[in-house]
Amino acid sequence: MPGTCVIGLQWGDEAKGKLVDILTENHDIVVRYAGGANAGHTVVSAGQTWKLSIIPSGILRDGVACVITGGVVLDPAKVIDEMDGLEARGLRMEGRLRISDRAHVVFPWHVVEDRLLDGSLSGGGVIGTTGRGIGPCYRDKVGRALAIRLGDLYRPDFREKVAHVVDFKNRLFASWPAGTAAPLDAAEIHTRYAAYAERLRPHVVDTTAFLLDAVEDGRRVLFEGAQGALLDIDHGTFPFVTSSNSSGVGVASGSGVPSRWVNRVIGVLKAYSTRVGGGPMPTEQDNPTGVHIRERGREYGTVTKRPRRCGWFDAVAARYSARLSGVDELAIMLLDVLGGLDELRICTAYEIDGRRTTQFPSQIGDLERAVPVYETLSGWDEELDTVRREGDLPPAARRYVDRIAELVGRPVTIVSIGPDRAQTIIRAPEATRRPWHPSLPTNA
Ligand code: IMO
Ligand code: MG
Repeated sequence: MPGTCVIGLQWGDEAKGKLVDILTENHDIVVRYAGGANAGHTVVSAGQTWKLSIIPSGILRDGVACVITGGVVLDPAKVIDEMDGLEARGLRMEGRLRISDRAHVVFPWHVVEDRLLDGSLSGGGVIGTTGRGIGPCYRDKVGRALAIRLGDLYRPDFREKVAHVVDFKNRLFASWPAGTAAPLDAAEIHTRYAAYAERLRPHVVDTTAFLLDAVEDGRRVLFEGAQGALLDIDHGTFPFVTSSNSSGVGVASGSGVPSRWVNRVIGVLKAYSTRVGGGPMPTEQDNPTGVHIRERGREYGTVTKRPRRCGWFDAVAARYSARLSGVDELAIMLLDVLGGLDELRICTAYEIDGRRTTQFPSQIGDLERAVPVYETLSGWDEELDTVRREGDLPPAARRYVDRIAELVGRPVTIVSIGPDRAQTIIRAPEATRRPWHPSLPTNA
């Protein structure tokens, strides 16, 4: 019963979609279990480029069942849009896509609140959300009184529920300065969402029951992570995080499938760091190195088109998020992007207030003051895009990958050197599997 998880170990955009597409071949079911339309996954499959946000990347392969579980916050308009786009390109959704009736639904009020609250952190900080209503929808889910789940859209009291929430939200909006939030029209929203519900009806099921049956029957399930571990609501760089458990610890709660059914966790890392939105990023390079990485890596957001902040690989952060996510092995993505730099740096420790540490801080203020301690490795000039075997990588590139494995404490089993499936080097996991060996220097 191989259950496999693909978890981003940085701040998202680690090219998880490409990996999921490759692994799908060996699985029967692909599951999206957290987040919502804030995710943006680009997959190049058979020479075609696909941009997915909420539908699992497994949809690109015939015969694979795709599941969106109750841990996801679902914007029905966005899902329908995505379904239409995929169908227009010849893919069939019928009988292949299941959506949980437990998923909480994103409504227009969530999007309004997301816009208003994003810049309202105490002290004036801006999270820089994707503006998709993700945080406010999760907040209403936890708050319960104003929450509406997908299954509710098919009940006789759906109209009443919308009226109840709109009445409350309109009183809240009225307390904000004039012009910031127009009053909502309950009838219009009800009509629109009832139409969405009809369109989605054939897909809406109890996915927890479906998945529990599937794993108990020995079907092979692939869990497709969205976002990255450092954006985890409980364990990430709070408050500059997303609103779900995006690290490995969120798989069971988001999907309803307990971790006893998972036997392989792959942590996905870019060969460097990127971050989009606000919050500290100790290794950020706001200089020509950062520009080199951004341009070669085409580091612009899939969802929001924002230029991503780019910097050196941060082994302190990666080791933390790999341990947190229970990672067995690592995939290093976008290694080709680092070509053409004379020297490469890897952050191996932080100096915080003059004290050197390899422990990732739990408090944002400490991370903001963290000064990276770097180790320098030599770069390479060769283009890697045509490399197909590990042995053909330039020695400097191999040393770089090996050093990441050593510092993070897990073997690297997959190296990606371009967006195409063929641009992937797979190393046998058996040959490299070994016990956890924390090899960062201990705290000084
Ligand atoms: P994928 O799946 C990168 C970031 C946003 C913002 C913060 C909170 O493509 O890796 P939210 O809209 O979730 O409330 O925004 O989280 N963020 C992502 N950054 N990749 C993602 O997803 C992200 N999803 C959210 O930029 O800083
Ligand atoms: Mg993305």
